[in-house]
Amino acid sequence: TTSLPVYSREEVTKHCSTENGIWVTYKDGVYDITDFVSIHPGGNKILLAAGKALEPFWALYAIHEGEHVLEILSEYKVGVL
Ligand code: HEM
Repeated sequence: TTSLPVYSREEVTKHCSTENGIWVTYKDGVYDITDFVSIHPGGNKILLAAGKALEPFWALYAIHEGEHVLEILSEYKVGVL
């Protein structure tokens, strides 16, 4: 089994630009979504969550409740909190 690196929330907040990479968290997972931003069906709104937790945004946009959304997200996992 492989174990992913552990990151602090503070470290995640630094990754909020294309230069440093765009990271988000979901539950205890850390995701580098830099390459997903340009193909997000919801467009640039996704950047509001850069460096932050996805939960408050997904609470507002219920379209993310589908299983396929978590499948997409899982491809970008780079670490855990
Ligand atoms: C739509 C994925 C973050 C706003 C979608 C859809 C997917 C998706 C797959 C299409 C859903 C469907 O039609 O069944 C993701 C992933 C995210 C993310 C993987 C994080 C890594 C966000 C954030 C926001 C957002 C943070 C808002 C701040 C929207 C909106 C739509 C949408 C408004 C609807 C677009 C439309 O149908 O016109 N997202 N999303 N998304 N997303 Fe996201």
